[in-house]
Amino acid sequence: MKNITHTIDYQEYNSSSELPVPDQELLEAARSAISTSYAPYSHYHVGAAVKLANGVIFSGSNQENMAFPAGLCAERVAIFAAASNSPDVVIEAIAVSAKADNFEVSEPVPPCGMCRQAIVEYEMKFNHHIRIILSGEKGKVMVIEGMDKLLPFMFREMGLVKP
Ligand code: THU
Repeated sequence: MKNITHTIDYQEYNSSSELPVPDQELLEAARSAISTSYAPYSHYHVGAAVKLANGVIFSGSNQENMAFPAGLCAERVAIFAAASNSPDVVIEAIAVSAKADNFEVSEPVPPCGMCRQAIVEYEMKFNHHIRIILSGEKGKVMVIEGMDKLLPFMFREMGLVKP
């Protein structure tokens, strides 16, 4: 038996104004997508924006359903919009932000486990890390280079992609 320690590195900014301008723009797109959230059950509104290598941005927001599991997180709405409208263009980055009706979202919002696995799929498809920009409604912003940092033991069975 051996103990293995896994560490991750990421950047933390005190506010979005400290980010490089392209990341600021993507985060702004994520924040404006919050207004399209449909969250009558959780009252928690999430916006996400995905940037492609050609500069095009696709955004999305969480869409809830009275049959709860039928709803979808903002990250998957945004990344599936990008992948289905521009299937051949590399995905470079995703930004996420959120607001709640009843409290302040003061910490960066990390994607849920299913969204992490969904995002990883496009890293594998294009063999390219996706930059992940996470924020609350204001304040601190985390920037993580690649989903392997957030999902180190991702499901990755390359036998499945062989013919
Ligand atoms: N949600 C997201 O959109 N993204 C996440 O990463 C976590 C949670 C949504 C799902 C649901 O509509 C609401 O936030 C509360 O869980």
